[in-house]
Amino acid sequence: MKIIMLGAPGAGKGTQAKLIAEKYNIPHISTGDIFRANIKEGTELGKKAKTYMDKGELVPDELVVDLVVDRVAKDDAKNGYVLDGFPRTIPQAEALDAALAKLGDKVDYAIDVDVPDENIINRMSGRRACVACGGTYHIVHIPTKVEGICDACGGELILRDDDKPETVKKRLDVYHEQTQPLIDYYTEKEILKTVDGTVDMMDVFASIVNILS
Ligand code: AP5
Ligand code: MG
Repeated sequence: MKIIMLGAPGAGKGTQAKLIAEKYNIPHISTGDIFRANIKEGTELGKKAKTYMDKGELVPDELVVDLVVDRVAKDDAKNGYVLDGFPRTIPQAEALDAALAKLGDKVDYAIDVDVPDENIINRMSGRRACVACGGTYHIVHIPTKVEGICDACGGELILRDDDKPETVKKRLDVYHEQTQPLIDYYTEKEILKTVDGTVDMMDVFASIVNILS
């Protein structure tokens, strides 16, 4: 099962992708997490990506496409995967389709987690991310057992650099301009499924499971 998660920043792509990956035992591939891991390790890719991410802009397609195409060709992705945060532009979607077509393969579902802009800013200011494992929480909606400490690994929780309200606004603009056109792209391919992302996270997940089974 090859799944793409679509949705605005903060719509809950990462939250749902993690649940899908656990239930169906497939890898969760998040380009944002890959970049953040590279930034933490101080790699060349991380240094380049950071300059764009901090401004709320997209990292150029050429820095993303090969990375994902290589990742989905790995052994653990043979039975499927859930892509979170990729594709984000029409050229990225076309590059993915072309790479999969070469393998006689295709994307099965593009799931759009639909959340209006009004809800997003509030969600992002409450999000906390684990510096160690990337786990995501929300101070009100998805609190940890001990404040500031990751339930999964005991790591420290922080507010992401790009979750400041002014950067979130820029990310939303970029989403509407460059990523939203993918809704039409996958509608035309007849694989787009939309779920209401404003309800409780487990209810969002139930709608997704319903689509996938
Ligand atoms: P990325 O890391 O992908 O960020 P994003 O798309 O902006 O999305 P987020 O991770 O912020 O949100 P999410 O939808 O995963 O929501 P989450 O589940 O955390 O990308 C970051 C940057 O990297 C980009 O800006 C870009 O620069 C670069 N980049 C990455 N991929 C790229 C690509 N392909 N091309 C170019 N550049 C790329 O949930 C948000 C919060 O809400 C959390 O606190 C969560 O706990 C809470 N929450 C989730 N579900 C619910 C619910 N149902 N009810 C209440 N709260 C909820
Ligand atoms: Mg995410």
